[in-house]
Amino acid sequence: MVLVFERLLVSNTKINAKNISLRQIFDAVPRLDVKSILSMEPIGQELIIHGWVRNFRSNRFIALNDGSSINNFQLVIDFEKFPEEVIKRISVGSCIKATGKLNPSLGAVQKSELVVDTLDILGDSDPALYPLQPKKHSLEFLRDIAHLRFRTNTFSAIFRIRHAVAFAIHQFFNDRGFFYLHSPIITASDAEGAGETFQVTTLNLDKIPRTEEGEIDYKKDFFSRPSNLTVSGQLEAELAALALSKVYTFGPTFRAENSNTPRHLAEFWMIEPEVAFNDLNDNMDLAEDMLKYVIQYILSNCSEDLKFLNDRDQEEQKQKPQQERNEFSLLEKLDFCLKNNFERISYTEAIEILKNSNPNKKGKFQYPVEKWGTDLQSEHERYLVEKHFKKPVILYNYPKEIKAFYMRQNIDNTTVAAMDILFPGIGEIVGGSQREERLEKLESRMKEMHRPIQEMYWYLDTRRYGTCPHAGFGLGFERLILFVTGMSNIRDVIPFPRYPGNAEF
Ligand code: 4AD
Ligand code: MG
Repeated sequence: MVLVFERLLVSNTKINAKNISLRQIFDAVPRLDVKSILSMEPIGQELIIHGWVRNFRSNRFIALNDGSSINNFQLVIDFEKFPEEVIKRISVGSCIKATGKLNPSLGAVQKSELVVDTLDILGDSDPALYPLQPKKHSLEFLRDIAHLRFRTNTFSAIFRIRHAVAFAIHQFFNDRGFFYLHSPIITASDAEGAGETFQVTTLNLDKIPRTEEGEIDYKKDFFSRPSNLTVSGQLEAELAALALSKVYTFGPTFRAENSNTPRHLAEFWMIEPEVAFNDLNDNMDLAEDMLKYVIQYILSNCSEDLKFLNDRDQEEQKQKPQQERNEFSLLEKLDFCLKNNFERISYTEAIEILKNSNPNKKGKFQYPVEKWGTDLQSEHERYLVEKHFKKPVILYNYPKEIKAFYMRQNIDNTTVAAMDILFPGIGEIVGGSQREERLEKLESRMKEMHRPIQEMYWYLDTRRYGTCPHAGFGLGFERLILFVTGMSNIRDVIPFPRYPGNAEF
């Protein structure tokens, strides 16, 4: 064992010891992933490698990928040493295990390559049937084979970045003393009150039980009451924040809105921090800090994947007419976001800008902006961010009529302490507010908005016992991934998208 350990230390100077399990140290030959191997100095050391064949050319060079890196690793085989039947089974998509020696590569592209001694085909892949070939496939085509698209460069990069962003978010909150709260997925409340919930039931839809009055008898349903998938964990997060002070949720949320757009999913992940004693300004600071932290984290930790997506995006831009091309490359956009303060303006100021804007005057908006109080459409949000300010914008103090019941009413009696963060190319990425902590004000707003006061006694109890100012927001995880990967359709940044008419895989 000492010998093996020494060999690892001597020959693999750069590999991270955390990548090697104890069993591998005891094994005579270490099994390493592509990422680790690519960082090693090649001095003829023996290795085991597993992965999927991306390309096989001249019956000699295998480009192998195991998902640990955007880069493939080259294996070289002397085809005269292997039976023809084995050589034939090395095809794009097949899975192999190889042992061999890591030598400096003679090719210009790579530093090292594995000269193969033994080769096992773990899984064949019939080239006549395998849908992925070493060429560019359209995103639409890949969406139809989402079960296989992980095996492409683009999607492996996206999902590695998705992981890194999730990790960075947990790290950000953990470092600041927040507690990760698991809010329920099945609930009886519609937090946003928008009525866009997916019902959860075990009732037999062919034989729905009825009461004597002919109503559906929910007493016979699983929870003895109507229930649904959560649209937001906010209300539960508020309950916890009024004891733990700083909490956040990070989980799936569900909306049965019939929105067939590149920004909406029926199942998406949301991060919802909730902080006791924070006001609207603290809330904006927290959101801006978090977004910048995440962007900095992936710039530092995902540089190869980002570079790949950046180049991919540049290629895409070239196909577009000049006026539709992005002003910034993906990397420039991320850097810009990091270095500049987000513009903070009130809803009222935004309406003035929009009213006087060229597209509004020339009738170019689908929804003209005429009066204070109208809800902003994504065309308006994108005008503010992409044309007017050319940077992320935080809009605050919205009319109470267009916002949820729980937002804190401002002294003017017409606006609430809400804030939305708008990002270039995305529109709304964050929605949040200071919460109404005053019992009477909250109750009267709930009455006005026909919210069930009796049923929501648990929410109101926090205002009855030891209420305090508090604030929070919701960040749409996939919208953030869209932004940092430069992709344009939200269906391409979640493994298996759910949207109207689709729940495949
Ligand atoms: O603005 P929303 O609806 O706010 C809430 O749910 C609050 N309870 C949040 C809070 O204050 N704790 O949603 C928050 C964010 C949006 O800004 C958007 O990024 C994302 O969630 N989002 C969606 N993402 C993908 N598909 C959808 N259908 C989305 N709906 C909202
Ligand atoms: Mg919103």
